[in-house]
Amino acid sequence: MTQVLCIAGARPNFMKIAPVMAALAETGIAAQLLHTGQHYDAAMSDSFFADLGIPRPDHHLEVGSGSHAVQTAEVMKRFEPVLESVQPRAILVVGDVNSTLACALVAAKRGVRVIHVEAGLRSYDRNMPEEINRVLTDQISDLLFITEKSALANLVREGIDPARVEFVGNVMIDTLYRNLEHAVPASRTLGTKLPQYAVLTLHRPSNVDDPATLAGLLDAIGEINRSLPVVMPLHPRTRGNIEKFGFTARLDGLHILPPVGYLEMLGLMRDARLVLTDSGGIQEETTALGVPCLTLRENTERPITLDEGTNTLVGADPAAIRAAFNDVMTHGGKAGRIPEYWDGRAAMRIAYTLKGWLPQRKGASAISGIKAA
Ligand code: UD1
Repeated sequence: MTQVLCIAGARPNFMKIAPVMAALAETGIAAQLLHTGQHYDAAMSDSFFADLGIPRPDHHLEVGSGSHAVQTAEVMKRFEPVLESVQPRAILVVGDVNSTLACALVAAKRGVRVIHVEAGLRSYDRNMPEEINRVLTDQISDLLFITEKSALANLVREGIDPARVEFVGNVMIDTLYRNLEHAVPASRTLGTKLPQYAVLTLHRPSNVDDPATLAGLLDAIGEINRSLPVVMPLHPRTRGNIEKFGFTARLDGLHILPPVGYLEMLGLMRDARLVLTDSGGIQEETTALGVPCLTLRENTERPITLDEGTNTLVGADPAAIRAAFNDVMTHGGKAGRIPEYWDGRAAMRIAYTLKGWLPQRKGASAISGIKAA
């Protein structure tokens, strides 16, 4: 009998689900994997399954792209009959993408318990679709695993019983440590050896959907590229908008790559002088790698990367980006330290907690004793 039905849908889910599936297998918890198909390109999905050794999904919903409403609704419609036929004791969702919320909502309404991995992160910015997914998923989750202690305060503020919250660390960092020795050297991905370079990723709607904001960002990056080569793996949303707005010439001189696989990205970040990003996960990965990170957003849901890690919040203002860049080049950037429980064992903590929790009835709190302080 399947005890846990695990859900993954979009690129940032795959590195989180990989160690969880492995830990469940290692502790003898029967699990199945469902891929919603929110991301579907070989470069955005298949390559991660191959690189990270994720088992082939037992179920594939093939929802594809769409507006938020369409995508969320399609996942819900297609997920319900699968849930009905598998009848797991619980479903496990990770992160904050549309697939996370859609599956959690279906399960909660059918009385199936929901486990949320990476709960409690808050940007307090409801313009981010992910923030809405986070808040709502947490409200209907039965067991909430957190990556940093600030998440507990966020959850308690929203009325969530702390007995349902477990501080286990960061499963995405489990994946990073497990794969670091297999990271593809930057010189191989780039096809040339750059003595020093910066890596840039941009895909947040707030940065790439508005022409004026995107133009300002690309111009600031163009200036940085004159003193330090900038390598930019291009997300499909960003590529589409650059073409639509007629900004292709603004990429001249940058090292543009298609979306890269996990091991290529790991190598690019590890060997970089600094990283500029609007991604959530990359703020954490650079902290784990000890590489300075400039976050091109006004807020972050991952404050530990600022307080303890190598991350600096810069925003999207071109002058602020140039100043932050010059500061890193002059002073070397933040050194940071590795946050508590980002030690490669988060998924095993989750599996041990589930061993005790799964046989219980709905309404039970977490019980493993690794309580969030
Ligand atoms: C989604 C997540 C975001 C995450 C990001 C990582 C939500 C609300 N957003 O945003 O949190 O940081 O993934 O990539 O869930 N496309 C392709 N191939 C694909 C997938 C998408 O070409 O395999 C294109 C489509 O044109 C699509 C666009 O990219 O319309 C955006 O994809 P979508 O999944 O809607 O959102 P992301 O911006 O990727």
